[in-house]
Amino acid sequence: MTVNTRTGGGNRDAAGPAVDRSEAPGLAPAQAGRWRRRHLLDLDQLTRDEIELVLDTAEAMREVLQREVPRVPALRGTTVVTLFYEASTRTRASFELAAKVLGADVINVSASGSSVTKGESLIDTVKTLRAVGADVLVMRHSASGAPYLAARHADCSVVNAGDGWHAHPTQALLDLFTLRSRFGNLRGLKVVIVGDVLHSRVARSNLWGLTAMGADVTVCGPPTLLPRGLRAEDRPDAPFEDALPPVRVETDLDEAIRDADVVMALRMQLERQEAGFVPSLREYSRRYQVNEERLARAASHVVVMHPGPMNEGIEISAAVAHGARSLVEEQVRNGVAVRMAVLYLLARRAV
Ligand code: NCD
Repeated sequence: MTVNTRTGGGNRDAAGPAVDRSEAPGLAPAQAGRWRRRHLLDLDQLTRDEIELVLDTAEAMREVLQREVPRVPALRGTTVVTLFYEASTRTRASFELAAKVLGADVINVSASGSSVTKGESLIDTVKTLRAVGADVLVMRHSASGAPYLAARHADCSVVNAGDGWHAHPTQALLDLFTLRSRFGNLRGLKVVIVGDVLHSRVARSNLWGLTAMGADVTVCGPPTLLPRGLRAEDRPDAPFEDALPPVRVETDLDEAIRDADVVMALRMQLERQEAGFVPSLREYSRRYQVNEERLARAASHVVVMHPGPMNEGIEISAAVAHGARSLVEEQVRNGVAVRMAVLYLLARRAV
């Protein structure tokens, strides 16, 4: 096991009972007391009330981030470990920053520098991290379901930071938070998710989150890039990644986008695809790129989202990605507040 960095505001032994957590406004113990879950693995099990609780907590966290010195001791004495078996920039950085702002100790472990490369099994790795004091394990893995396995074997909290094609709950929560900040309420909001839905864990978690919040969701893409589980006839034997809530499916983006309030473009996951899902990238862009011309069919107040990293010129035009309708930067900024909320609720939940 290689420990890359160890930083943070507190020390387990020094934390003691005298820690003043009251500096975090709106973070009355009641907030965490209403949260009962030990892990955050996906949004499929979360009720609307639970999602609202995360978003309300993120609101208080955003206020902390706007302070001159954005630091509160709310998680002093808590150790957060990030265990990433797959590349990441924003997700990992925002979890690390979130933990530090809350005064937690942070240990970053990457698979390439750890005993994982020597063949240590996932379960052994998780047990080792628990033995060195992990209270919350934030994990990304290329295999769908890996964080569920970790959660079964670790007596600490596990946060899924992306598993294979399956789920990415904190990305979906930050998308919901960004939309709630913009529109006030998600009920009836017309959201189009367009692109490589088949390979997108972001889309899957968003389908659960958006439908739980009452949004009116349309999924759009070439039939080869839409998951089987979206079609009712495939449901009975749907595999793990394909159990999804019912939504509208439309393969013509010009149709799907009509009157949309929100267009969420997904990255074409070139690294997860074998050849042959689309005839050519040029053809794909012609039919599915989110650009100014297409957005003219949407509501005049339409906003555009993308989880990043973006393939500009493929699924989204550069003008839209960086234009006035784009919420992309706001999504990244909100990622820190939402991850603070998740870490806080899991670590300080009522047991
Ligand atoms: C996403 C991911 O890794 O699942 N990115 C992210 O977390 N911001 C989306 C993607 O890779 O396309």
